[in-house]
Amino acid sequence: MAKMEDIVSLCKRRGFIWQGSDVYGGMAGTWDFGPLGVALKRRVMSTWWQYWVEDREDMYGVDAAIIMNPKTWEASGHTATFADPLVECGACHGRFRADKLAKGVNESVTTEEFLAQKVKCPTCGKFEWGEIRKFNMMFRTHVGPVDDDSSIAYLRPETAQGIFTNYKNVVDTIYPDLPFGLAQQGKAFRNEISPRDFILRDRECEQMEIEYFIDPANWKESFEMLHEQYYKFLTEEMGLDKDRIHDLEVAPEDRAHYSKHTVDIMFDYPNGQEELMGMAYRTDFDLMNIQKASNKSMEYIPKGGGARFVPHVIEPSIGVERLLLAVLSCAYREDEKDGKVRIVLALPEHLAPYRFCVSPLLKNKPELVAKAREVYATLRKKYSNVTWDDSGNIGKRYLKQDEIGTPRCVVIDFDTLEDDTVTVRDRDTTEQERVKIADL
Ligand code: GAP
Repeated sequence: MAKMEDIVSLCKRRGFIWQGSDVYGGMAGTWDFGPLGVALKRRVMSTWWQYWVEDREDMYGVDAAIIMNPKTWEASGHTATFADPLVECGACHGRFRADKLAKGVNESVTTEEFLAQKVKCPTCGKFEWGEIRKFNMMFRTHVGPVDDDSSIAYLRPETAQGIFTNYKNVVDTIYPDLPFGLAQQGKAFRNEISPRDFILRDRECEQMEIEYFIDPANWKESFEMLHEQYYKFLTEEMGLDKDRIHDLEVAPEDRAHYSKHTVDIMFDYPNGQEELMGMAYRTDFDLMNIQKASNKSMEYIPKGGGARFVPHVIEPSIGVERLLLAVLSCAYREDEKDGKVRIVLALPEHLAPYRFCVSPLLKNKPELVAKAREVYATLRKKYSNVTWDDSGNIGKRYLKQDEIGTPRCVVIDFDTLEDDTVTVRDRDTTEQERVKIADL
């Protein structure tokens, strides 16, 4: 399995992902995507959108504002309960999540339970802990020119509420058949006590969430259907190794406050097994809360007749960064060729930042460069994500393209000028074949 430091180093070296605000010494828990990273991220997100929204009859998209009326977070329970157990070392004043330091405890760990484990401070090695206190993870801000309690707003900690608050708008405007799903992609913000493991736990991340509205009588079937389809999406569309994906049925005491049944889909990351995504049966918790807080009916009128009711919800929720890290760690490999180590990012072709790299065999032969430019223009017109490389020698170009995951390198040589064929070199096998330009 690829090591985390190798993935981080490749991402930095090749312009995929850098620490946020790098030039100023960084900003913990934030990440910036470079030219190749943003290409990969957008392909992951657009593949998701096509798979879950455009290719289905029962799903619709929304795109809600990040800053929402603060009533949203009161009604959803986030103001009261979206908190982690924070513990501070009395000696060095380091702050940590108590449930991550102690073993076998969850987010409701008490000070007594924590102290009983005799965990020492990971920074200074002392045992001088203070009381555990609940730390709300929502980022607070002020809206408008007045900086007092009346103007407090939050950066959304989940995209889900932007879906729930638009459920009624969707039903009133397009009145979809039940069951139906509303999908959204977008930024979410969490003031994590300890961001860690590269892009796995961030303070600013991107989520792709679906709220699937159902008749509660069918919750199990809908849950299973979405669960199975997600497994197909992860393995077939994202190229994740089947044996690195595991289901974890979350115990009642560990579930989020809104969930009646949760399965976390865990993934074997380079630093160990972690949650890749969650599948939760949120019941009518959110719509009922909105109904109460807004005084507006959230009922759905069944099209075939029958009593109106507030739908229940199944929620598959995944973070883009966690998915990217899983994709990168499945794609990363090293093999040995002619005594040299070759690094390959064997991404699924539809996710690779570039589909082809085009280059002239020799940079100093104008006739080769002109022909190569012609082929490059043709392929760009056809596929758009095609890159040009005439740096160094051909061997170095291949190695660079292998590292950034380009499935095929197209090389224009003197034979091309005679017969309009090119050499196409395959990233995964390193084999080369002669192909007509028209067949590319
Ligand atoms: N709407 C439900 C919800 O937000 P969650 O389990 O807190 O549930 C869903 O988050 C997913 O979002 C996680 O499974 C993970 O993929 C991603 N995620 C959550 N917090 C994250 C963080 N701090 N950094 C990166 N991704 C995160």
